[in-house]
Amino acid sequence: MKKELSFPEGFLWGAATSSYQVEGGIENCNWSKDFPAGKACDYWNRYEEYFDIARELGQNVHRLSLEWSRIEPVEGQFDPAAIQHYRLMLEALHARGIKTMVTLWHSTNPLWLTEKGGWTHMASPAYFERYAAYAVRELDELADFWITINEPGISTTMPYLLGMFPPRHKYDLWGWGSSLYNLAQAHKRAYRAIKRINPDKPAGMAENYSFVEPQYKDPLSLLLVRVWDFLRNRMLREYVRREQDFIGVNYYFHERLAWDLKYPFIVFRNRNKLVSDRGHEIFPEGLYRVVKDMKKYGLPVYITENGLADKEDKLRAAFIRDHLKWLHRAIREGVDVRGYLHWSLLDNFEWEMKYGPCYGLLAMDFEHLTYEVRPSAREYAKICKANKLILEN
Ligand code: BGC
Repeated sequence: MKKELSFPEGFLWGAATSSYQVEGGIENCNWSKDFPAGKACDYWNRYEEYFDIARELGQNVHRLSLEWSRIEPVEGQFDPAAIQHYRLMLEALHARGIKTMVTLWHSTNPLWLTEKGGWTHMASPAYFERYAAYAVRELDELADFWITINEPGISTTMPYLLGMFPPRHKYDLWGWGSSLYNLAQAHKRAYRAIKRINPDKPAGMAENYSFVEPQYKDPLSLLLVRVWDFLRNRMLREYVRREQDFIGVNYYFHERLAWDLKYPFIVFRNRNKLVSDRGHEIFPEGLYRVVKDMKKYGLPVYITENGLADKEDKLRAAFIRDHLKWLHRAIREGVDVRGYLHWSLLDNFEWEMKYGPCYGLLAMDFEHLTYEVRPSAREYAKICKANKLILEN
């Protein structure tokens, strides 16, 4: 029997990328020294080819980020050539009938800011506002959506608590707290700057939300889950709830928590029956749970990222279908979800793991800079083009 799940009219279908992960040639940011990305996917020069494929695959929205270190390579000095290049990129998307979702900050800082302490520097929100206002003034007519900051949570935990992203500090509570606070301020300032330039333009933040549940239902576990869920998913979103026109959801993780008598006292006990190449559990129902929880804000929701590392492309097609099935249920139950952007259009530079994990709808050969369209991308294209998911069972 066939079952059809239609998505709302005008639903946006696409994929997401970020500057440092795909562009190549970025040598002036906080990642460049310890984790050089080299040519990456050479997106900077070959964007038209990639956008052609996105269009062929039936995508009608594309998310990319602007590289701060290109636009403001020296403190207070903006580079019109960089802006002009982004203008051409955004125009190229529009010329293909693809809407643009433009992120102002996706994990990279210019070196001049890094030297001052990055997001721990108390003036960092003001620096960001100055850059954001410049970029928005220059590019607003070509951006259909603005995303201020990508994943403030991950972008402060990884560098300051887990020591995995530059500047690789471990358990630096001051670094974590001050950078999180400043990123939240940066979001608020940039949001207001966007609104001053164009009050009608939708602007929001993209955050990494997980679905958290207890392994056992004893009082201590329930308490633990509440605390963890608050810190991980709610604190920031409550703090910025009045400064956003939509909620950007990046969904990757399910976290089943249990407590333990031994340090670090919290353990993750996921079922892990189905995992990505990185060992991340695949749990599509979590997307529904996360999104349902957004209903109370009464704002449109966009899935700004959702994907998995799957080099051999064994799981991706089912992964997309299963997540969309659950997303559709949230829509049926009244959540105003307006778009789904897969992470990512193409394999790219995966931060501390460099060119290991493969998240792309396109499989990249980084040596020759060639690519192949993975079969799952064709499956996803059928859904994008039909604006519906056809389930056979
Ligand atoms: C980030 C991406 C990253 C992806 C896969 C997301 O949290 O926004 O930059 O590549 O996860 O790890």
